[in-house]
Amino acid sequence: MPPLLIAHQLPERFQQLLEGLPGGVALQALPPDSAWEMPAAAEILFAVPPRGGNVVLPAQKPPGWPGRLRWLHALSAGVDEFPSWVFEVPLVTCGRGSNSVAIAEFTLAALLAVEKRLPKIWIESAEAWVPRPGLGTLQGKALGLLGFGSIGQKIATRAAAFGMEILAFRRTGGTAPSGVHFADLDTVLAAADHLVIALPLTPATAGLVGSAAFARVKPGVHLVNIARGRILDHEALLAALDSGQVGFASLDVTEPEPLPPGHKLYTHERVHISPHISWSGGDRAAQGNLLRENIRRFQAGETLLNIVPPGRGY
Ligand SMILES: NC(=O)c1ccc[n+]([C@@H]2O[C@H](COP(=O)([O-])OP(=O)(O)OC[C@H]3O[C@@H](n4cnc5c(N)ncnc54)[C@H](OP(=O)(O)O)[C@@H]3O)[C@@H](O)[C@H]2O)c1
Repeated sequence: MPPLLIAHQLPERFQQLLEGLPGGVALQALPPDSAWEMPAAAEILFAVPPRGGNVVLPAQKPPGWPGRLRWLHALSAGVDEFPSWVFEVPLVTCGRGSNSVAIAEFTLAALLAVEKRLPKIWIESAEAWVPRPGLGTLQGKALGLLGFGSIGQKIATRAAAFGMEILAFRRTGGTAPSGVHFADLDTVLAAADHLVIALPLTPATAGLVGSAAFARVKPGVHLVNIARGRILDHEALLAALDSGQVGFASLDVTEPEPLPPGHKLYTHERVHISPHISWSGGDRAAQGNLLRENIRRFQAGETLLNIVPPGRGY
């Protein structure tokens, strides 16, 4: 029997993920400028999101798409960046979970940076040795999580260790884990001292955090976005920062990325911007394990991990 052909778009720096794959598969790297033209025999595609590599995304569906493809694995957790024709492949999975610990740690660092006024308290001369007390703590503060999936849950366990009160807004209900209260959007907005966006970008979440939401937040809230820039209305954020309704914003993602040169958010004294880097330091071993386990399941006819519902679940 011929091997199962996996076409892939992985740039050099990610190719260690392809080591130790099960037997019975063959790999074919796709050139970046034609990475969506499938080899006739390819049954599986490992795809990188348009932002994440040097792959050229065609303006239109490639002729013959999806060919013989039976399964597409997106390396990213979010699948919002892929055009809708990508989801014509019968089975789509994603990299959800692989970077969640790194992002949760990054989020706690963002919270601590605001409470402890980092990096401003670090000095570089004797003259600057002027103690200015008044640092804050996370202990007893309310953390509002918009989204309680893989990332939100990892943030919650770490925030609980700091003694935070945790409220989470999610699409479904269920029983909240110990120390977490599920609540509706308005309740979370009104209660949070630190409000973290950990939602996927979907038609329902695009622009969700805008002027109407800022009218309902606790004045002075610290807003953190580690999800997608389009969930947040940046003009409304600027107005809320200027009115004091939002006390501080930590943005790992923006819309567009990067924001244009000279954008006010770059130089706002109560804004921290990082270049979509919170995922960094993620668990490469977990990413590789996910690929290997899903190939095993695919070959065995079992249900794969991290299936994206048809139509992206919208
Ligand atoms: N900055 C980065 O580098 C980076 C890296 C990885 C991921 N991300 C972004 O983070 C997002 C979240 O990742 P994840 O792994 O935590 O995803 P996930 O496990 O799929 O969790 C998503 C959470 O959002 C909730 N949700 C979805 N639609 C909602 C809606 N309309 N209203 C309320 N809640 C809704 C879900 O609710 P239920 O639990 O009820 O289903 C779930 O709790 C990704 O989609 C991606 O865009 C960013």
